[in-house]
Order: sequence, then structure tokens, then C-alpha cells
Amino acid sequence: FSCDNIRNFSIIAHIDHGKSTLADRLLEATGTIKMDSKGLNRQVLDKLKVERERGITGNMFYQQNNLRYLLNLIDTPGHVDFSWEVSRSMVACQGALLLVDASQGVQAQSLSVFHAARERGLKIIPVLNKIDLPTAQPDRVKAQMHSIFGIEPADVLHISAKTGEGISDVLRAIVERIPPPSGETTGKLKAFLFDSLYDRYRGVISLVSIQDGVLCKGDRIVSCHTRKKYEITELGIMHPEEVPTAQLLPGQVGYIACNMKQSSEAHIGDTLHRVGYAVEPMPGFQPAKAMVFAGIYPVESNDFPKLEESIKRLTLTDRSVTIQRESSSALGQGYRLGFLGSLHMDVFRQRLEDEYEANIIVTAPTVPYKVVYRDRTAVVSNPTDFPDIVETSSQVREVQEPIVKATIIVPEEYLGEMMDLCFEHRAEDVDHRYLGTSGEASNRAMLTCTLPLSEIVADFFDKLKSRSSGFASFDYEDAGYKKSNLVKMIFLLNTKPVDALALIVHRSAEQSIGRMWVKKLHKVIPRQLFEVPIQAAVGKRIIARETLSALRADVTAGLYGGHYERKMKHLENQKESKRKMKRVGRVDLPQEAFFDILSTR
Ligand code: GTP
Repeated sequence: FSCDNIRNFSIIAHIDHGKSTLADRLLEATGTIKMDSKGLNRQVLDKLKVERERGITGNMFYQQNNLRYLLNLIDTPGHVDFSWEVSRSMVACQGALLLVDASQGVQAQSLSVFHAARERGLKIIPVLNKIDLPTAQPDRVKAQMHSIFGIEPADVLHISAKTGEGISDVLRAIVERIPPPSGETTGKLKAFLFDSLYDRYRGVISLVSIQDGVLCKGDRIVSCHTRKKYEITELGIMHPEEVPTAQLLPGQVGYIACNMKQSSEAHIGDTLHRVGYAVEPMPGFQPAKAMVFAGIYPVESNDFPKLEESIKRLTLTDRSVTIQRESSSALGQGYRLGFLGSLHMDVFRQRLEDEYEANIIVTAPTVPYKVVYRDRTAVVSNPTDFPDIVETSSQVREVQEPIVKATIIVPEEYLGEMMDLCFEHRAEDVDHRYLGTSGEASNRAMLTCTLPLSEIVADFFDKLKSRSSGFASFDYEDAGYKKSNLVKMIFLLNTKPVDALALIVHRSAEQSIGRMWVKKLHKVIPRQLFEVPIQAAVGKRIIARETLSALRADVTAGLYGGHYERKMKHLENQKESKRKMKRVGRVDLPQEAFFDILSTR
């Protein structure tokens, strides 16, 4: 094989538009998966499914005009929450199939991935899937694709990944439209490490994309990142499972096994070169940056060791999650985890619940704010570390919050509702346009705006779905930081602050949020033997208050009537103990109350 006969590509698709089905069809059509009598090789497909979550699908051979091609399908996550993973898989690709469901039309999710692909100069092959469905509207969807992506309708392929119709056109287009990778066989070895997995017998297996030069078994390599040296003990391609080969050529993607003992040695984004022949490392090495943080606690505090073990095990396979021990006076021992985005958090939470097999408490998510002091800038994601008063503090210059550029695609009749929703969440630069020919029933509109990240990490997505009857789709990309008027809100029970309840909120929302929370607290805190004020405060200002009235234990009930002295004595005792309690100020806040208010679900 020479470079000219290699094609590296990925599939970009909105969830459920048929990415896995198309991948299966391609593997089948190229004979990579042998079909059994029922037409499917379930076992291989299931194993691939597991691998797919890890990010690679496979290498396949394809013959056209008497030429043999090696097609490498590299999986790309469908959302920019995983922007680092998106970009790392794009380093290995020269083209992408943009797959759109012909009955659903273009959806917002994956728009950002499309933009990332285009920015990187990848050749895009637009593909309409599910044309076998009676509800398919190819012309209308092509008009949308033209409007959103600027794609010429004539370039769009029509396929059904289910029936296999049009699959050969896809293979031909991959060969004809996507350029072969560049790279010199004679060049100095330069390999980009884009993923790794752990094998019990062989240790760390890394997935690499050869940018230049040839990599052979027995070669001695160096990591640009750690400067550690290794010897290649095995290498090969995924066809669809690992198949050893003698060498990997420029442009090829494949796996390598060297004597790497620990997963932490395989740095995603690292560049490998031959010992003694240094090269410039590939640009863009940057570790994943956590943007959404949440505390995770066991419901039963005795279960902490079990939770800890589950978290540690899961973060071995998803190293983009940052972990830090945290303890809260209210919730006990737990962890503060950092995620790439809210979608990433949901995925991890689901996996954790499956792995741990028990309920967990996930506290309301927060985002990293930048507090600009006179002499330094601190990134703060835990309300506890946020300055109490910003505006009067001579030390703090300003506070900035992360913002995103959001896109919503929705049937026209819901546009007004979606705009309201965005404005309720501090949207700015709101803009919209109609997709396709106007006047058609149920036409689509695309709304764009900037939103603070903090506004979309909680329940924005649920609201978006319910207020559009499930029709709206949503995507966002990072848009940097912006100065913002943020304050720290604390809650006081019987004038004592409760650390676990502190929040960072926008000044414009302090009243409504303060009131909402004290009401919530009022509902869940059991009455005490004394009156308990529940207050929300910003700095020294109290902005909301509810009072929990005292529970008057009838201490005299059951005593003989008329025994006046004894009755008085009991009442005195009660007063005294009340006074004591007030002084001590302890409000018995049951764990369940915390769970009720802090848990996001
Ligand atoms: P995720 O893995 O959830 O991201 O979805 P996906 O994009 O991989 O979609 P998947 O391949 O799982 O397909 C989603 C659903 O669409 C499945 O029920 C498929 O059977 C169905 N489907 C896929 N392609 C076609 C097609 O060409 N025609 C029809 N009628 N159904 C299809």
C-alpha cells in the first residue's frame, strides 16, 4: 500500500440518525465482517459496539477499478463537549461523512462537530439516510442542508443504511472525494497518539496515526511528552479486531503495543518519534479542560469506600474527568468531579450509577469562574472559594464567567417560545433565520445566541425539550469568558451559614433565586422546638427570609390535671431548654433534607 490508496474518514451524525447502522453496513459491504446465515455477525458487532464507545471502528479493504484501498473509519464523538476528542480524531482524518436522517431533517447537535471538521479542512460528504422511510423528505432536507451548511443538493448521496441501498455510492465517494493522507515514507517517523486502551496481557495498547515515516515491529521510539523510550513489540490494524501487520505506513491508523505499563504513560495527543531522530511535536496538545463541576456523594455515608472505588475504576477509562476529594459538613465524604460539559456529566453519571449499583447524590453543577484580583486571577468552581463581596472589595477587579455560542433548530411555530426561554437565561446577540422555503407548514428555524454556560448546565435542556414538545435540538460551542455581575449567595439557618448550600448567582436573579431556595428549605426542614429563621444573604444583605415556626411540644400532656406547680415546673424547663438550643443554634437538618434540595434529580 502507498499513501495514495489510503482514506481516513469519520462519520458525523446527530444521535439516532444511523451512524452505527451505517458503520455496520460499511464493514459488511467491504467483507470486514463476515455475515452468518442470519445475515449478521452479532458477536463481532457487539464487540465492536464496546470498542466504538472507546472511539475506533475499524480499518477495511475495498477494491475499485482493480485498485485496492485501505479505508480507515475513525469514530468521532457526536458533540463538542468532547471537543478535544473531536479534534484529536480529526488529526487522523482527511474527510467526513455528514449523515442526516431524511425524515428528521438537520438537527442542531453535531453542528459544532461539522464546523470543527470544516475548519480543519476535512472534505465533507453529505449523506441522506433512511430514504426507505415513507416519511422521508429528501428535497426538503437537502434545502435545509444547503441553508445551514452551504451544501450543494447535487452532492448529497441518498442511502438507506437499513436496506443497504446506496452503500456502494458511499464507498465510491470516500475513494473519489476524500484526498489521500499526505506523508512521506522516507520522512522521519512522526506518529500521533490519539487513543489508548488497556489489555490485561499486553499492557497498554495505543492507537496511532502515522503522519510521516514508517513504523515497524522492533522499532525504538520516544514520547515527546514524557521523553520515555519504548520498543514496539506488536503493531497492526483493526480489521475489525486487532490484526498484526509488519509495518504502519504514513497516513495509516493502527494500534501499537510497546512496553508501556501504565495507562497514564499513554498521553492522548502525544507525538512519538524514533530514538535519535527528534521531530517537532504535533500542535494542539492540550489536556482536556473541565468546564462543569459537581459534588458526588453516596446516599449512605457508609458506602463511601464503594463509591470511591467505582469512581476510580471509571476514571481509568475516561481520563477527561478530573477528580478531587471533598467533604461537606452536610453530606459527609464525597468527590468533586470536573466534566467537559453537561452532556459529559450526564453520560458519566449514568455509567457511575450502573457501575456502583446504588443511588448517588449529585449536587447542582457549577462552572469555573474567573476572579480577577489586583495581582492575580483565580479560577473558582466551588462557591466556597468565591469572594463574599465583590463590588465593595478593593481586591477584586472583576469576575468573569464562561459563555457559549448556542444554536437551536426548531419548527417555526416554536420559535417565539424558544426565544423567551433564551432570554430567561440571559441570552445575548439573539438572531434567527428560516431554513428552506418559507410558507411551508412546519418549516424549521435556526436560532443562535450566546448564553452563559452556567445557565445551561442545570435544566435548560429539559425545558428546551418540554417547551418545544420535544422538537427542538440544541448544540453549543465554547465562546470564551465574559465579565459578569456575579455574587455569592449564602443561606443561614438560625443565623448560622450552611456551607454546602452556597451558590454563585447573577445579580439580576438574586431575588428570585433567594426566595425560591428559602421556600424550598422551609418545606424540607422539619420544625424544631424553637423558631428558626431561614435566610438568603448576599454579603451582609439579607434578601429573602422564611420563618419556621416552633414546634410546641406539649410537655404537660399526660400529667395530672390541676397539679399546678408541677405543670409550671415543666413549662419552665421547656423554656430553659429552648433558650439553650437557641444559644447553641443547632438546627437538626436531616440528611434527607439536604438530598432533597441539593440533588439535581
Ligand atoms: P446512536 O448510537 O444512539 O448515536 O445512534 P446512531 O446514530 O448510531 O443510530 P443507529 O445506527 O443506532 O440507528 C438509530 C435507529 O435508526 C435504529 O433503530 C436503526 O435501526 C434505524 N435506522 C438506521 N438507518 C436506517 C435506515 O436507513 N432506515 C430506517 N428505516 N431505519 C434506520
